[in-house]
Amino acid sequence: MVDALEKAKEHLAEILKPQLERVERIKAEKDWIDYSRLKPIIIGVIGGDGIGPYITQEAHRVLEHLLKDEVDKGKVEFRVIEGLTIERRSEVKKPIPDDVLVEIKKCHVLLKGPTTTPKRGDPWPNIESANVAIRKELDLFANVRPVRVPKEGIDWVFFRENTEGAYALGPYGIEVTPDLAVDFKVITRPGSERIIRLAFEYARKNRIDRVTAVTKANVVKTTDGLFLKIFYDIAKEYPEINADDWFIDIMTAKLVDPKRRTQFKILVLPNLYGDILTDEAAEFQGGVGTAGSANIGKQYAMFEAIHGTAPRMVREGRTKYADPSSVIRAGAMLLNHIGYPELGERLNMALDICGQYERKLIMTGRDTGATGREFCDYILETIQDPKLKERWQGYQEG
Ligand code: IPM
Ligand code: MG
Repeated sequence: MVDALEKAKEHLAEILKPQLERVERIKAEKDWIDYSRLKPIIIGVIGGDGIGPYITQEAHRVLEHLLKDEVDKGKVEFRVIEGLTIERRSEVKKPIPDDVLVEIKKCHVLLKGPTTTPKRGDPWPNIESANVAIRKELDLFANVRPVRVPKEGIDWVFFRENTEGAYALGPYGIEVTPDLAVDFKVITRPGSERIIRLAFEYARKNRIDRVTAVTKANVVKTTDGLFLKIFYDIAKEYPEINADDWFIDIMTAKLVDPKRRTQFKILVLPNLYGDILTDEAAEFQGGVGTAGSANIGKQYAMFEAIHGTAPRMVREGRTKYADPSSVIRAGAMLLNHIGYPELGERLNMALDICGQYERKLIMTGRDTGATGREFCDYILETIQDPKLKERWQGYQEG
């Protein structure tokens, strides 16, 4: 037993040291990158695994169409990055192969398809998720996930902390003895401050009068307790915004309460709660296949679907029926982020029309519906309609 405890102590020291260093890095980090000063802005496109390459290729097509003039002017450049596949990652036993990481870091923003996340018992080595590794490597601390269902009054933006919580040391738990396993959850002051501040700044900029924190601070007292304390400290700097907090269990319930849920607007939450709650939230909008996600840091940003690689679809030969809407939504967020909000808005309107209102083509995930390619053509056609805005507004009123 003494041996086991000694080993555990050593392990703890080993994992805490990099976390203390990370805290210092966050404190010293550079300010936000200014995309308007870059020429070109480099957009890396990563296909990923499973249905990833298929749906990402469609989203790439949409972005190339919308940014054609900018590419011609040398203001934007696309780069396809190969090699972030589960086969390559397994071969080198790393979540991101070194050469791929070099290419990734040469880009300013990424559009990324889903990647396989191995777990114990899979045919792959149990390496860390590529998503999580990229988020940590590029310090993409904010996972911003909007969910909108206008006809039900739902308009939420989730600010999920993206580099800490249960994820920071996900692969570094310890089996103290074969009977005792311990994982670690990490919350830091500067890490919490930056995500909470981003949520309040977003509210202020968009004149949204409520920001809600979600934790389990009544039980997970030290880490969630710190997050919540910082939340209310920062809230004092935004007197025009109502700040409140909910526990994750009851919040999960209230999202299905039609009377209560429309009151939530901006939610800010630690990593794992954000992971879970945003899948639930996306379901109201038509499922995870319709939701995009922005992973934002001060120097880099990555835009992706919120769902996985759909191995069952691939196995059953249904890959071409995968819905590209999620990655295309992520593409709209990318356009917004790099300084083309009008293009982003057009794309969002086209997605609303095609996916929620007009629905001339329906995606069912199988041969009873449209293929991803056909659906993407439909979106492209819709974007090019000079009366797009009027069409969209018509649906808002009707
Ligand atoms: C997400 C995904 C990832 C996460 C997985 C693939 C590691 O579920 O982006 O929400 O847990 O963050
Ligand atoms: Mg998730």
